[in-house]
Amino acid sequence: MNMEQITLEVLKGYALHHDGTHGISHWRRVRENGLFLAESTGADTEVVELFSVFHDCRRRNEGRDPGHGARGAQLAVEMRGEWFQMDDEPFEHLLMACRAHTAGLTEAHPTVQTCWDADRLDLGRVGVIPRADRLCTRPAKDPDTIKWALARSQEGWDRH
Ligand SMILES: [Fe+2]
Repeated sequence: MNMEQITLEVLKGYALHHDGTHGISHWRRVRENGLFLAESTGADTEVVELFSVFHDCRRRNEGRDPGHGARGAQLAVEMRGEWFQMDDEPFEHLLMACRAHTAGLTEAHPTVQTCWDADRLDLGRVGVIPRADRLCTRPAKDPDTIKWALARSQEGWDRH
């Protein structure tokens, strides 16, 4: 699986600014958050990496866009086989993670929970401090993790 090539391909159809709120620096931090959490949660790291790129990649705006998770999942369906291979079970987790990532759920397979937490830990970029009771996994709820993610999510604020 070549994440760089997958990311470039996905970006071709990204409708918003690449450096916007839901753009590639968010995808990069979600990936980093997820891989960190996966060390403790045992999440499938390929699912986590693909989630980071697919979950917001078919947004049509930076605000309320209820269908975007499902559209990102659909793109993953279209690219599977040609751009990456994945067994059915982890792929179902990827689809679930993308489709439901804005539903506010906390109960799911640990791989799905890890994806959602990776995304929620980056809320500081829009001025929202991640809340432990809205996170799913033990390592994400750790105050040190929230602090670490919050600092990274707000990097560069002084430049805007
Ligand atoms: Fe996101």
